[in-house]
Amino acid sequence: MSQGQRLAVLLERVSGIVFPEREIPRLTMLGEERARINGFADLTSYVQALYRDSESAEWRELLSLVTVKESSLFRGARQFEVLVQNIIPKLLARGRRTIRIWSAGCARGEEPATLAVVLSECDKLRPGGWEVLGTDVDESALDVARRAIFSKRSVRKVPQPLLDRYFVPSGEQFELAQGLRANIRYRFLNLVSTPYVDLEPGPLFDVIFLRNVLIYFREKSQVRVLAEMAQMLAPDGALFVGPSESLWQISPQFLTEDHHGCFVHRVRMPSIPQPSGIPSAEFATPHPSGLSRREAVGTQAIGQDIELDVFKRSPRDLALQAVKRADFDGAAEILALDSGGEEDPIIYALKGVLAERDGRHEDALRAFRAASYLDSRLFQVRFMMASCLEGSGWVKRAQAEYRAIFSLLKSGLESELPSAELLALPTRLEVEEYCRQTL
Ligand SMILES: C[S@@+](CC[C@H](N)C(=O)[O-])C[C@H]1O[C@@H](n2cnc3c(N)ncnc32)[C@H](O)[C@@H]1O
Repeated sequence: MSQGQRLAVLLERVSGIVFPEREIPRLTMLGEERARINGFADLTSYVQALYRDSESAEWRELLSLVTVKESSLFRGARQFEVLVQNIIPKLLARGRRTIRIWSAGCARGEEPATLAVVLSECDKLRPGGWEVLGTDVDESALDVARRAIFSKRSVRKVPQPLLDRYFVPSGEQFELAQGLRANIRYRFLNLVSTPYVDLEPGPLFDVIFLRNVLIYFREKSQVRVLAEMAQMLAPDGALFVGPSESLWQISPQFLTEDHHGCFVHRVRMPSIPQPSGIPSAEFATPHPSGLSRREAVGTQAIGQDIELDVFKRSPRDLALQAVKRADFDGAAEILALDSGGEEDPIIYALKGVLAERDGRHEDALRAFRAASYLDSRLFQVRFMMASCLEGSGWVKRAQAEYRAIFSLLKSGLESELPSAELLALPTRLEVEEYCRQTL
């Protein structure tokens, strides 16, 4: 193996970036030049020094020289449209006050600056109701990003009215307005150094932009990075990758949504309710009594005295009635056979509680996710979901959830699950105390 090839192997190990064979002559020349600048006798001793000290200042220089930072503001503009028109309104409707976005592999700040502009233009967001974190492995690029000054070429795709509104011209360059810069932070992060323990604690990200970075990695690194991204993204959040990148067959953690050719990736774990109106086979099978199975089970569960009610009452009421009589099996059966109520968070919450009682933790987690997706104020549901997540090893997500529950309780906007006492659910005080101690 030549020293150039050795350098390529080392660089891939540290940064994840793959250097194909055709790049080796360029890398060899670069290594020789760096060896000379740093006073090494030859490329061999330079490469050896890099091997010995992965924290050296030379690494910073070298990574800056080998990473591709091709970018511009409003690159892939359609993704920003989908973000503002589709993703953000849904997050706000679910009670978000501040939208947290992570630009991973942010180069010299072009993507964070674009996000700052489009988020400032989004009239659904309260002023300053957003924050952007930009990270990169190239410290020099981050220094440039912090200055927020862009060349004429970088801003060429920015619509003129936005350029006039949010940038201060200075000669041939354009400086992002101070007010926008205040909501952007930059940090060093090497994406292949998983897990991301150094990334600041805080709520999970609502949106992650990981564009035009994975293309430089081998599949093994892509898989690792995406698994970590799934941990960092809120359950109802969205991941954008570059137009030439696909998660097809490399990331079981994500589902892909097609917004007229613009792909948005969602964490697969949450069980988003099925579209309504699809009768289940069981529900359609007539019961010997002539009642449908749901009605028949409901009748058995609630007794003869209110048999006529069965046609008027929702499965949710029937299940709650059963819970009140401590007939948990009956309640579970009503809910298991119910094919309606897909939009009812209480149904999912009950399903979750009953599944948890039976030790069906995965079913419980799925149901709690759906319930809290439909009503994020149900603090007991979110608390049980966090416990399930913790039990399944999703520690970061669980912690983020405990943090979110704590804020929810502080805001006073929480709501209690009906029959919480009968279901032996934790009280508001207990949940608050637990979160306080855990965080
Ligand atoms: C082509 S730029 C993409 C910039 C921007 N995301 C876009 O799409 O316009 C790729 C960026 O990924 C960064 N990068 C490469 N390897 C990385 C790693 N292991 N960790 C973090 N960033 C990395 C590079 O430094 C560079 O800034």
